Amino acid sequence: MNIKALKGFKDILPTEVGSWQRVERVARDLFHRYGFAEIRVPVLESTSLFKRSIGETTDIVEKEMYTFTDKNGDSVTLRPEGTAAVLRAFVEHSLHLLQPIQRLYTIGPMFRHERPQKGRLRQFHQLSVEVLGSEEPMVDAELMAMAWQLLTELGVNVSLEINSLGCPECRPNYNQALRDFIDARAEKLCDDCNRRRQTNPLRVLDCKNPNCQEQYQGVPLLPDFLCGGCRDHFGEVCRLLDLLAIPYKKNAFMVRGLDYYTRTTFELITRDLGAQSAVGAGGRYDGLVAQLGGPKLPGIGFAVGMERLTLLLEQLNGPQADSGSDLFIVALGEAARNRAFLLTQEGRRNGLAVLMDPAGRSMKAQMKQADKFQARYVLIMGEEELAKGIAILRDMASKAQEELALGDELGKELAVRINK
Ligand code: HAM
Repeated sequence: MNIKALKGFKDILPTEVGSWQRVERVARDLFHRYGFAEIRVPVLESTSLFKRSIGETTDIVEKEMYTFTDKNGDSVTLRPEGTAAVLRAFVEHSLHLLQPIQRLYTIGPMFRHERPQKGRLRQFHQLSVEVLGSEEPMVDAELMAMAWQLLTELGVNVSLEINSLGCPECRPNYNQALRDFIDARAEKLCDDCNRRRQTNPLRVLDCKNPNCQEQYQGVPLLPDFLCGGCRDHFGEVCRLLDLLAIPYKKNAFMVRGLDYYTRTTFELITRDLGAQSAVGAGGRYDGLVAQLGGPKLPGIGFAVGMERLTLLLEQLNGPQADSGSDLFIVALGEAARNRAFLLTQEGRRNGLAVLMDPAGRSMKAQMKQADKFQARYVLIMGEEELAKGIAILRDMASKAQEELALGDELGKELAVRINK
């Protein structure tokens, strides 16, 4: 029986997991500096949560969700994104009572039944960030600054594109103008656009069909329909980004694939990943908390796709393996092996990553293993060394060697020397 991983589901191997660990480390540290707390939410939720938040007529809900009926007869779905699940938890636990503004992040797998390609999987991972409780443009700018800083600290080059999708006051006027424009060209548009014309007109702007794109020359654009409040909000977001010297491009065609957005939306775009160019994306969703049965609180967030980010890092630095060990103890003979076994534990208690060969093979075989484990140091303990009460510490990079006394404090001493 030869069972393989499902299409679009990927193993992250020890030889490549280093970039993932780096992304998580840098992100956690950065999010902490911006006042974010981690929240961990389940991967399985009621299907209605995603229908109600992402929107019944979005591609995600219409075509891409892993939905099934569980043993109780309830419809459940593997989360296709993090925002809905985090907001469900926010509402369920009344987190708004703890702090006036909640800054939350979560890291984990999401599931969408899309056609797999480079940078697009069916199980993918997001760093997902939400700020709940403020509609101030400063929060929008701060969040984009954090996303920008994350990618800068990781050494990844992206561009920031922003737009405003308006609010329930101005969006209907725009939808009407857009519908009128599309209706006049209906017979020249693809089936998808014709369907969206009825259900979700904004989404037609995202159509990749070249014929449709041609038809959309001169299409009315949302920024021209914003109400005074939305226009001021967007203007202030731009002013604050300028103040922070964060470069951005306004993209009036950016509509996003989830229905909950209002006002500011943004995407972090790369030219280095082919078709899947969005490394991260997000925006404001001022009506969503209330829509999910919570208080009337505004919110904004973004998510970075970890597969896309680690692909970019691998293009820059090559695949990064899980970190190797600090020390490999090469022990020859029964007595030395016993001493080495104790020393592995002492070293670990003192914070070192220590390994030895459990099978006690030849010196050459043990040195080979030390190489395989990328040990920075090797401690050699043969019968001769043991008789002299010493061990030899070799720095594998410089090949420098020194003799160390086999005293009770050796574990501690090794930690000091190796961590120097
Ligand atoms: P999204 O644009 O659907 O937004 O996804 C955010 C990011 O997740 C994308 O830019 C991409 O990097 C990554 N991503 C999405 N689908 C896939 C896939 N099939 N394979 C690999 N990576 C993928 C959201 O999910 C929103 N919840 C973001 C947000 C948070 N908005 C407000 N708060």
